[in-house]
Amino acid sequence: MSTRTYIEDLKEHVGSSVTIQGWVSVRRDQGKMVFFDFRDMTGTVQGVVLPKSPAIESARDVRTEFVVAVTGIVNARPEKNVQTGKLNGDIELQVEGIEILAAAETPPFDISSDTSVIGEDTRLKYRYLDLRSERMQKNMRLRSRFVQLCREFLFQNKFAEIETPLLTESTPEGSRDFVVPSRHNPGNFYALPQSPQQYKQLLMVGGIERYFQIAKCLRDEDLRADRGFEFTQIDVEMSFVTRDDVMSLMEAMITSTVETMGFTIKEKPFPRIGYKDAMEKYGADKFDLRTEEDKANGVLAYAWVVDFPFFEKTDDGRWTFTHNPFSMPIPEHLDALMKGENLGDILTTQYDLVCNGFESGGGSIRAHKPEILKATYKAMGMSDEEIEEKIGHMLQAFKYGAPPHGGIAFGIERNIMNLAGESYLREVVAFPMSRGGQTAVMRAPKPLTPEQLIELGIRIDKKA
Ligand code: AMO
Repeated sequence: MSTRTYIEDLKEHVGSSVTIQGWVSVRRDQGKMVFFDFRDMTGTVQGVVLPKSPAIESARDVRTEFVVAVTGIVNARPEKNVQTGKLNGDIELQVEGIEILAAAETPPFDISSDTSVIGEDTRLKYRYLDLRSERMQKNMRLRSRFVQLCREFLFQNKFAEIETPLLTESTPEGSRDFVVPSRHNPGNFYALPQSPQQYKQLLMVGGIERYFQIAKCLRDEDLRADRGFEFTQIDVEMSFVTRDDVMSLMEAMITSTVETMGFTIKEKPFPRIGYKDAMEKYGADKFDLRTEEDKANGVLAYAWVVDFPFFEKTDDGRWTFTHNPFSMPIPEHLDALMKGENLGDILTTQYDLVCNGFESGGGSIRAHKPEILKATYKAMGMSDEEIEEKIGHMLQAFKYGAPPHGGIAFGIERNIMNLAGESYLREVVAFPMSRGGQTAVMRAPKPLTPEQLIELGIRIDKKA
């Protein structure tokens, strides 16, 4: 096979013969000549098949979305045909040969126009075609670049990337669990993690000191525009740190990442605001600090929210955590927690990062001593037995010298939505679920076969 040239590099080859490979975006048969737009992952270029070209016959067979290898001469366009401001607007490919690598049926929707208006069912059934659209290509690459830059920053700052289990025990993040039946232990179930919260803290006990993971989180909650059953976090935990240490390092990560990607941040350092002030000023703990002009210019307005109440009352009058039960209260309120006094006034070390009205991330300094974590669960009205059952393994681990530690997790989708200016999570996920929780392209959830059910010891209640 001849060497392939990427479409974005064609400019460097004016006057030479090259071979590109990709898809046919557009074909315009003008009788004598045939014009094409060819596309690969790096861009598009116009091709022209002249009447005398050896490719003129095959050019008439080729249709939109055919996969082709095209050989031709890169020509500078005459001055009057130059399209300024467009990749390859000043060149075109004089096609000498077209090899069809794969034919294509007519796509069910037009890939070259805005696919966000296509019906969800069709769009997700043919997601692989939707992914060819310019906007999805851009969003997927934006996401990849964001993760790459965060990762590089973390590696430069002594972090180790470590995976934690997907088949695990329920961990409280305030949602329902997705569960997986165990064939080896009929009647028993794993829970898929709502976050790696407990494992990352155990890694701190394990002396890792600086951990991160691009972590899949699974939460059975009501779906919304910015909320999925599964989503991905940049999940971080650090030992021997204060709240300020975590916030400033993470602020540096986000700042360098988005600035390297060419975005503008409204205010640096990020403003910090107390929860109470935020509620008074904006009526919410997620708010949008952008002006109309900032919105038009794609500016990112970050702010930290701190000093959240640790506990809130449930409908049945008991206390529960507002954010994370593993958090430490602020130092001034540790005493009250230990005594179980004034629970409604205790503030947590929780910090949330908001950006353009979304919660981009959140974390806290953790209770690293068993008696402090236990006091939190006592405050929520649990008996010693219940506490042992729920977090006995954490209390046990903390008896063996747990370093002071804290961390944070950023929702990748929410961050990319802000960067891409998208309002829906599905625009920044390669294979998102439908509003009804059906998978893209493939057909889950669906029933198990009778054999599978027997093997797992599960009987389905037909009424359900
Ligand atoms: P939290 O539950 O706040 O914290 O999650 C962290 C970030 O993840 C994103 N997020 C979601 N994105 C899409 N769909 C969802 N259903 C969804 N839920 C959350 C948000 C949020 O800010 N273990 C703690 C983190 C820690 O304390 O270190 C946690 O998971 O952007």
